[in-house]
Amino acid sequence: MEKKLHHYIPLAVWLVHCLMACSAKMQTNNITDKSALLALKQHVASDPYKVLENYWIANALVCDWIGVSCGIQHHRVTALNISFMDLTGIIPSHLGNLSFLVSLDLSGNNFQGKLPGELSRLRCLRFMNIKLNNFSGEIPSWFGSFPELQLLSLSSNEFSGQIPSEYGKLMMLEGLYLARNSFKGLIPQEIGDLINLKALGIDSNLLTGSIPREIGNLTMLEELYLGLNNLTGVIPQVISELTNLILLSVENNRIMGSIPRAIGNLTMLKEPYLGVNKLIGMAIDKTDDEKT
Ligand SMILES: *[C@@H]1O[C@H](CO)[C@@H](O)[C@H](O)[C@H]1NC(C)=O
Ligand SMILES: *[C@@H]1O[C@H](CO)[C@@H](O)[C@H](O)[C@H]1NC(C)=O
Ligand SMILES: *[C@@H]1O[C@H](CO)[C@@H](O)[C@H](O)[C@H]1NC(C)=O
Ligand SMILES: *[C@@H]1O[C@H](CO)[C@@H](O)[C@H](O)[C@H]1NC(C)=O
Ligand SMILES: *[C@@H]1O[C@H](CO)[C@@H](O)[C@H](O)[C@H]1NC(C)=O
Ligand SMILES: *[C@@H]1O[C@H](CO)[C@@H](O)[C@H](O)[C@H]1NC(C)=O
Ligand SMILES: *[C@@H]1O[C@H](CO)[C@@H](O)[C@H](O)[C@H]1NC(C)=O
Repeated sequence: MEKKLHHYIPLAVWLVHCLMACSAKMQTNNITDKSALLALKQHVASDPYKVLENYWIANALVCDWIGVSCGIQHHRVTALNISFMDLTGIIPSHLGNLSFLVSLDLSGNNFQGKLPGELSRLRCLRFMNIKLNNFSGEIPSWFGSFPELQLLSLSSNEFSGQIPSEYGKLMMLEGLYLARNSFKGLIPQEIGDLINLKALGIDSNLLTGSIPREIGNLTMLEELYLGLNNLTGVIPQVISELTNLILLSVENNRIMGSIPRAIGNLTMLKEPYLGVNKLIGMAIDKTDDEKT
């Protein structure tokens, strides 16, 4: 369900930006990068395919390690992808020393514990995918301070607490996936500030309250997953302003009332999945020829 990001700024341009903006505070070099990754290796308790054990070798160049990508000019680690390796362990604070990291993909492992606060130093991060792990603790609000973040996926973990209103500051964000955790409380109205958002997945949590009207400001939105929560209220009329919407699911909530007639004007929308709710009156205009 997660989409590829299409408009990455060319990496070279980005790295120059990083060099100036991101690394100013802390003196790091490629030795720091190596010790950060060796610390990660040390904190991996189980590596069933022996990937790190055999391929993250201290006397080899870090840029040659499996899952590690570096900038061409300054040999700094820009991407770490150790997805689906069945690794178990925790994330050491040292990972926050990878000052040039643009992309972090830890998805499909069994990392647990809290995300160390030091990760908030990864100011260059544009892509962060840690879905399908066993991370726990309150969802960090510091993700809201990553100026260039385009994709954040924390789906299928054990995160709890409220969705931080700080996430409304992520102006570049195109995909926000928080599904299948234990988030509770309201959907923050600041979500409406994420004007570049194309996909929002917050299904299968313990969210309460109503769908904020501000959601109608997300005119780029193509996919909206709200199902399997404890949402109440009605589907707001403003949903009809989401003219790019393709997928809408609100099933298994406690939403009441009728479906806004205007939803019939959303021409891109595939069959909305409204499911178990107390909705009455399928006041959808357009679906007659699609129902078959
Ligand atoms: C650091 O980068 C330099 C080139 O800039 C390279 O010669 C050196 O081997 C690198 N060191 C490590 C530990 O990767
Ligand atoms: C990480 O690697 C996997 C498997 O090769 C790939 O499917 C995925 O797209 C990669 N992630 C990123 C962020 O490039
Ligand atoms: C990297 O991070 C660790 C823990 O956060 C810290 O102790 C260490 O001094 C940092 N710096 C370098 C250059 O490794
Ligand atoms: C997930 O982490 C918790 C500790 O936070 C642990 O008790 C549990 O066994 C872990 N689950 C799996 C499937 O490893
Ligand atoms: C966002 O939506 C709210 C409520 O629908 C509205 O009052 C506000 O003006 C909108 N903001 C922007 C920037 O469009
Ligand atoms: C949903 O809300 C109702 C009323 O507040 C509460 O009784 C119920 O336990 C909630 N269900 C879940 C799954 O949180
Ligand atoms: C649907 O669109 C038509 C034409 O753009 C408009 O006249 C009509 O008011 C819209 N219906 C609703 C319910 O918003």
